[in-house]
Amino acid sequence: MNKTVLITGVSSGIGRETAVLLAGKGFRVFGTVRKETHGLDGIELVTLDVTDDASVKDAVREITAKAGPIGGLVNNAGYGVIGAVEETSVAEAREQFETNVFGVMRMVNAVLPGMREQGYGRIVNVSSVFGFLPAPYMGIYGASKHAIEGYTETLDHEVRDFGVRALLVEPDATRTNFESAGKATAQNIGAYAVQKARVLEAMQQILKNGTDPREVAIAIHKALTAASPRLRYPVGTGPKLSFMRRFVPAGMFAGSFRKQFRLDEPRPA
Ligand SMILES: NC(=O)c1ccc[n+]([C@@H]2O[C@H](COP(=O)([O-])OP(=O)(O)OC[C@H]3O[C@@H](n4cnc5c(N)ncnc54)[C@H](OP(=O)(O)O)[C@@H]3O)[C@@H](O)[C@H]2O)c1
Repeated sequence: MNKTVLITGVSSGIGRETAVLLAGKGFRVFGTVRKETHGLDGIELVTLDVTDDASVKDAVREITAKAGPIGGLVNNAGYGVIGAVEETSVAEAREQFETNVFGVMRMVNAVLPGMREQGYGRIVNVSSVFGFLPAPYMGIYGASKHAIEGYTETLDHEVRDFGVRALLVEPDATRTNFESAGKATAQNIGAYAVQKARVLEAMQQILKNGTDPREVAIAIHKALTAASPRLRYPVGTGPKLSFMRRFVPAGMFAGSFRKQFRLDEPRPA
């Protein structure tokens, strides 16, 4: 096992917790930031923006020159667009995918040659419960995480023969900067206003009582180190939601899901 790990987005939240946890467990941790960040002793910080090809290539080159091939990549960097799907412009959706999806692809393409060459690698992509359970008013974010789910599953099939695994960690609502870092759509359509306000209030409450980011870090550590890793590591209420989604009748599930987000009773079609 190669204990050199690269984590994107360690300035706060899940990335920061994961960096601290892995460093404490003897990993050599390279963590990426976009601006000056303090309070991360024992983590080697690298400047990187996942939306920028050159920045990704330069950072991976710098790390491999220092530490040799990377053993683990944790694609954590991400944010959410907030608004109804009809309110979201194509430009806002493209920007969302540029970070949450193409950012992951850039990182993977940059580290894979080294992983294939050494015959070992673990890629952990941070998805979300919204990656299998899309929520109202975060539709494009959910679509980006669904894309990551499909992408990772295919990637895992393709790289296993090289000793590389691609895995998913699926956090539920987690107490981080995620909400404050979210980007509201520029367009607000009056018809959605009342319902959107109610849903966002419900989401705020869910996030406030959310999972400790350390729990997500523990799941990421498991994915990086398990002898026979699972493809998916749901966290917090994730396992229960994933089970219910599969086995509770669709109409019943949708009803209770809508209630949780304080959506109106659906009108008969
Ligand atoms: N919190 C939740 O409820 C939750 C639930 C499920 C999944 N997730 C996922 O967990 C991951 C981490 O989010 P978090 O909750 O820990 O939120 P967070 O505290 O806002 O952290 C997000 C991190 O991503 C970085 N980042 C954003 N865009 C970037 C870019 N273009 N290039 C490089 N870094 C970038 C941020 O860096 P800056 O400081 O430079 O902005 C920050 O370090 C995300 O993928 C998110 O979708 C979160």
